[in-house]
Amino acid sequence: MKKFILIKNKIKPFEKKIYIDGDKSLSIRWALIASQVNGKSVAKNLLKSEDILSTLNCLKKLGVKIKFRRDTCIIKSKGINSFKYKNNLTLNAGNSGTLGRLILGLLIHSKKKVKLVGDKSLSKRDFSRVTNPLKKFGASFKLNQKKLPVIIDGTKNPKPIKYFENIGSAQCKSSIMLAALNTPGKTHLKAKKSRDHTELLFKYLKIPIKISKTKNFDFIDVIGKKKINSLNYKIPGDISSAAFFIVLTALTKNSKIIIKNVNINPSRIGVIYILKKMNVNILIKNKRTYKGEKIGDIYVKSSHNIKPINCPSKMNSSAIDEFLIIFLVAAKAKGVSYFKDIAELNQKESPRLNLGSKILNNMGIKTKLKKNSIKIYGKPDLKIKNCIEIKNYLKDHRIFMMSTISALTFGGEWKIYDPDSIKTSFPSFLKILKKITT
Ligand code: S3P
Repeated sequence: MKKFILIKNKIKPFEKKIYIDGDKSLSIRWALIASQVNGKSVAKNLLKSEDILSTLNCLKKLGVKIKFRRDTCIIKSKGINSFKYKNNLTLNAGNSGTLGRLILGLLIHSKKKVKLVGDKSLSKRDFSRVTNPLKKFGASFKLNQKKLPVIIDGTKNPKPIKYFENIGSAQCKSSIMLAALNTPGKTHLKAKKSRDHTELLFKYLKIPIKISKTKNFDFIDVIGKKKINSLNYKIPGDISSAAFFIVLTALTKNSKIIIKNVNINPSRIGVIYILKKMNVNILIKNKRTYKGEKIGDIYVKSSHNIKPINCPSKMNSSAIDEFLIIFLVAAKAKGVSYFKDIAELNQKESPRLNLGSKILNNMGIKTKLKKNSIKIYGKPDLKIKNCIEIKNYLKDHRIFMMSTISALTFGGEWKIYDPDSIKTSFPSFLKILKKITT
């Protein structure tokens, strides 16, 4: 792919129906859980991105059999705790925090030491948030000051644990749940609200799980199981990818889009709640349930009189990957938007809170940035006159896509580096854009 893309014009009005790539969270979870099944599991519309290829490569190195047949991925496994691998195995999670953190949960039994590494961005991220609870099961870890590389030395005799997950991280919660699946007895988890795909998959697979909910926390009990049934799954579209096209349409005059077959799990659609509050014209139609997950078609129209938002912190976890694109809508609003308690945004593939603010400033939008919050002073009539260069952002896929949408909706001249970053989560992003512009 090219080193950078150049955008010099706003996108012209459009009316389109699109399908987007499969959900990343569900694709990774499907593969990891399929690796614990006795027998064959089949996935359709699995996301074919680098994060998923890293997942499949790690599983292959652990002795799991994986095949692709056109749009179908088949995983054959010998059941829970059946990984077979050589001494001194190194697994590479690439850019994927979800893979890196979840797979450690499946390795608490490892008889031989396994080393986990990742790319430059992943190597800057905190892994102690998962190794601390996983240690309590009995596994040992060596880290590089809370970061990768991590060496895991498993235990023969894992013991169930009690743990309070207070970050609101689904990666942390899911890693513990996968470890609990591998551990005899009942693991108790109190977890701050976060996406609940792992819980829904466990329920669907009839893995013994009990969940009770309060306003801010979920109490989850998992009893380890010896055998689980195969997991055949049709992966729906990813709301985190859809969000870029929702905002593209909302901020373009005389335009409409229908995004078909998107996962609208209530723990993921903070972006829809927030954008509706900001006066964006969005509707979800054709709602249905698939194996516990909610799916629907998203209808969006050009939106006028965008309103600022004082975003309630309780929305943060359900919109955590969408804040960058929400910030663009705040830039178009008449008034000041406020997003608080979002320090976690700086723990992602890049320091997104800081970089997002910097991009807005380059566009001519004033921000007040603190460690844990941002105020965005919207300018509905913003005209960008300078040339904006987006470079050196740790190849964060969502920084690239946010910048592209910004260029197409606010105008100005943009030189955006590292288009290949989209391969991490949304390889069809530029192809779909091209379809919309022709
Ligand atoms: C994910 C959870 C979120 C999210 C990430 C995917 C998951 O991370 O940012 O892109 O699939 O569990 P945290 O759990 O660290 O918040």
